[in-house]
Parts: sequence; C-alpha cells; structure tokens
Amino acid sequence: MSLYRDKGAEPILRPLRESDLDAAEGLFRRAFATEFGLATTTLFRPGARLVSQRFRMQPDGGFALDAGGELVGFALINRWGNFGLLGPVCVDPSWWNRGLARRLIKAVVERLDHWGCTASGLFTNPSSPRHFRLYESFGYAPGPVTVIVERQVKARDTSDLAVAGVTPAFLEAAGRLTGNALPGLNLNGELDRLATAAGDVLARWSGNELTWFAVVHRGVPSEAEGDEVYVKFAQIAGEAETVDARLDDMLASLETYAGEHGATRITVGISVARERLYRRLLSAGYQGRFHGVHMVRGSWPDHKATILEDWR
Ligand SMILES: CC(C)(COP(=O)(O)OP(=O)(O)OC[C@H]1O[C@@H](n2cnc3c(N)ncnc32)[C@H](O)[C@@H]1OP(=O)(O)O)[C@@H](O)C(=O)NCCC(=O)NCCS
Repeated sequence: MSLYRDKGAEPILRPLRESDLDAAEGLFRRAFATEFGLATTTLFRPGARLVSQRFRMQPDGGFALDAGGELVGFALINRWGNFGLLGPVCVDPSWWNRGLARRLIKAVVERLDHWGCTASGLFTNPSSPRHFRLYESFGYAPGPVTVIVERQVKARDTSDLAVAGVTPAFLEAAGRLTGNALPGLNLNGELDRLATAAGDVLARWSGNELTWFAVVHRGVPSEAEGDEVYVKFAQIAGEAETVDARLDDMLASLETYAGEHGATRITVGISVARERLYRRLLSAGYQGRFHGVHMVRGSWPDHKATILEDWR
C-alpha cells in the first residue's frame, strides 16, 4: 500500500515512457496472474517481452497511471493503418474497481479517434461479464471465439523456407492484401519495426503475386513465450481450394522455420468464424490451448477473410 494511495490522491494519467517498461512488464504479469488465479506471476506468458515490444512499436500509443511515482496502470495501442490494436490494459490489483481502467480506455479511444482510426479491437476473457461491460461502454462489441491453437514441432520439414525481405515491393503487396480484407488495414509499421525485435516475416511469392505472409515472433526480445514460434498475424490470398494449399504451404514453412530455430511449439490464433481455416488447422494437428473473444469497435474482416490473428 503506498502512502500516496492512503491519502486518497488519484493517480495521474500521463504517457507511458521507456523508463516504465520494467515496472510495466511486472504489472502485466501481476494483473493477469491475479485475474486467472495463477500461483505465481511467472506462470503468465513466461519469457514474453510483450509490453516492451508493443510499446517500442508505437511509443505514442502508451498510457500510464502514476500514483506518486508508482506505475499502477497502463494501456497500449498499436496502429495497423486505420485499425487500432488495443492491449494489454492492466491495473495493479490493489487498485481494482476504482475506475482506473475506464480512465485508460477513455484516453485510448480519444487517441484512436485523433489518429483517425475507423476501427479498433482487443482480445479478452469470454467468461468475464465485467470485461465485457468495461469495453461495451466504450462501443466495443464481442465477436466470435478466437482459439489459440498450438502444435508441437515434431520433425524438421523439408519444404523450402520462405523468409521474406521487408522490401518496398513486399510492403506494397502486403498492404494490398490486408487492404482487400479491410479498407485501410495496413501492418507496414509493425512489419518494418519487426527488424528491431526477434522475429521474421515469412512469405511466399508466386511470380509477382504475394500468396501469403506471416508475422512471426520467437526468442528474446519478442512477444513469443519460451521457445515457441508465435504467429501474430498471417494472411493468405485467394479463394477456397487455393487457400487450402497455401495454408498447408504456410504451415510447412512455419515448421521448417521452427526447426531451424530450435523451437518446440508453434502458436497461432484463429477465429472459429473462419471455419475452413480453423478445421484445416485442427486436421494439421493444431490443438486448442485456450479461448478468448475479440471485441471490436467499428469493423474487422468477417468470416470470409483468410486471416490468422492473435490479439493477445
Ligand atoms: C480488467 C481491469 C483492467 C479492470 O481494471 P479496473 O481499474 O478495476 O476497472 P474499473 O474500475 O475502471 O472498472 C471496472 C469496474 O469497477 C467499477 N468501479 C469503478 N469505480 C469504482 C469505485 N469507485 N468503486 C467500486 N467500483 C468501481 C466500474 O463500474 C466497473 O464495474 P462494472 O464493470 O462491474 O460496471 C483489471 O481488472 C486488470 O488489470 N485485470 C487483469 C488484466 C486484464 O484482464 N486486462 C484486460 C484484458 S482485455
């Protein structure tokens, strides 16, 4: 209990800073470990430097609540073109139920509007009415369940590896692909800045056509846990049967990539609404690890879009 809090002073809202990051990583684990009733904070997303990575990708998207020099809450947003990815949002458990998260989300929504984002989204706990109420009061609506699926890396695959250079031609093609799914959706900032994190962009070209790409994290510093290969976002071009073959190619490439880097597990997020992709992932040996739900303000590509997304 800080002295400041006992005096009843309200924490001040200010930008999150680089110097807050160690405290923010600790707060992130403390808040979620309490939320999920975990025995120790180290059990939540072990090894992932998620807060630091997201902040460095978008320093003007970080908000802090400061109680006399102590970080008691923070929220982050990353900009994907005119779509804003919100999260994590964390409040120190000893400060819960005092309206602090509401102050953070209000600031987030104002920043998104200031940036001109027409949509934004987050991943949350589907079994928490409290979380739903919090976000619904700011205009977010729940969507279908998203399953975080994983597969143990069994044997080194023999397919050729598809690591892409983040060249202007690649960024243009990726922007066209994402923009077809949702006008204005563009991950170029994220792709470009991945160069400073541990991870890669995997992609397959067929002549001049970009047939799929995947943003993957692994190792430190990145959003990946332990020795997993973590697919943050992936998109496949084409329709029905073409997509099946391309998804298989992407999965084979991920397997090769994981083998090359000594990873033991591949983790992917998939909305159950994208039934064709979801079923194919299951038949490729991916198994659900846990469920979440997306909440969206504005719109996000519907079930027809061939996207794999993990907004945790
Ligand atoms: C979810 C989380 C961010 C909420 O933080 P919080 O600061 O407790 O949230 P708020 O106080 O702003 O609002 C939550 C509730 O407290 C209520 N509240 C606000 N001020 C209050 C007060 N002075 N006294 C009592 N209750 C109050 C709000 O009305 C709201 O209640 P309701 O949703 O039942 O209507 C926090 O619990 C947390 O960090 N959890 C772990 C991480 C997490 O789950 N993050 C979100 C993932 S998407």
